[in-house]
Amino acid sequence: MSVFAYQDRQLWVESVPLHLLAEEYGTPLYVYSRRTIIDDIHRIENAFGGIPHLTCYAVKANANRALLRIISAEGLGADAGSKGELYLALTTGFAPNKITCSGVGKRDDEIAFALEHRILAFDVESTEEIEVINQIARGMGVKAPILLRVNLDIYAGGHAYVSTSMHYDKFGMPHTHALEVLRWASGLSNIEVRGIHSHIGSQILSPATFLKAAEAVADIVKKLRKGGVSVHDLDFGGGYGVQYHGFINNPELPYEAPEGPALSMAELLRPALPVLRSLGCTLSIQPGRCIVAHGGVLLTRVLYRKESAGKTFLIVDGAMNDLIRPSLYDAHHQIVPLHLNNAPQEIVDVVGPVCESGDFFAHDRTLPRLQRGDGIAVLCAGAYGYVMSSNYNARPRAAEVLVSGHTHTLIRPRETIEDL
Ligand code: LLP
Repeated sequence: MSVFAYQDRQLWVESVPLHLLAEEYGTPLYVYSRRTIIDDIHRIENAFGGIPHLTCYAVKANANRALLRIISAEGLGADAGSKGELYLALTTGFAPNKITCSGVGKRDDEIAFALEHRILAFDVESTEEIEVINQIARGMGVKAPILLRVNLDIYAGGHAYVSTSMHYDKFGMPHTHALEVLRWASGLSNIEVRGIHSHIGSQILSPATFLKAAEAVADIVKKLRKGGVSVHDLDFGGGYGVQYHGFINNPELPYEAPEGPALSMAELLRPALPVLRSLGCTLSIQPGRCIVAHGGVLLTRVLYRKESAGKTFLIVDGAMNDLIRPSLYDAHHQIVPLHLNNAPQEIVDVVGPVCESGDFFAHDRTLPRLQRGDGIAVLCAGAYGYVMSSNYNARPRAAEVLVSGHTHTLIRPRETIEDL
């Protein structure tokens, strides 16, 4: 049951009406629910409950320190895709031996920083990278634990930009090279080969795709073992998809059908688990989106209604620089008013003030008629929202607020024009 719900015709999060936050902190504003994030952590943990595993939260999904502290306090590890993410993880309570470092282009200073802090493992993506890690580790007198990211050649579905495991993608190494590469790497003085890693993409909603990935990974593990490479660790990556449609259902709002069958996290993963379990590896996973997406909303306000050439535009004060997912991936985010007003429904484009036609939150969306000053919430914006925001059009970044029960705390102040 979501903690984002209407009471007395106002949209609340936990025990706080969202319009009060919009008034107090201004808009555009990111608001997060602590309860939702914790519940979503439990959902993914329970889904993998049958196998001992380490969940390394992918910091890239949302890197606000207050959220990272909530996640580390739940006992999770972290996956860092840059030195900045590693620094944030180390300073918000994640134990270094629960942190993985991933990324196709790790700089020398990033590698050294990770080695200095004795992280759990590097997910490595090329032979040149392994050589560089070996050299840096030798210079520091340490051994670097590595997992080879293997390319499974499985199309993850969803938007092409977030499918990452096809043979033509920049990530990982072809699975057909895994044996040769790991045999070679095992002979390097300062490399400790721990196993393999796969991450096939993001926003995956098909149990069959995860099953296919698990089977492909199992096949590789068996071939490696047969070839004399011991595989202790398996990192199954992230990509566990969430519903963006129909997050809030209310008879006064247009109905949004779920995207595909509305499966729980447990149902999404059930077919893959026995395959993963049978390998006897130490399993880690790197979920990002499914931990923070549902726990965040972007509040924005209607600046103008504009009717032109048979279309109605709601021009709002949030824009693509605040939440780029609709513009970049044509992503769907449900949009709901902060007050239910009983107004007749109409079809509108919800757009921002930025100087591009690509600056929109929704096209041809049915909403109750809204007017200047009305507040709206763009839902499920907790993942890849603020972290992908920019200063385009010299727009200061939004503020972020965390709600827990009755309390609300500013966890990142709004930028000002002097910050630009
Ligand atoms: N591990 C690695 C190596 C990754 O590259 C990613 C995401 C994750 C884990 C976490 O994946 P998740 O569980 O969040 O799907 N900006 C896009 C998503 C990009 C995902 C990038 N890598 C979006 O807004 O849809």
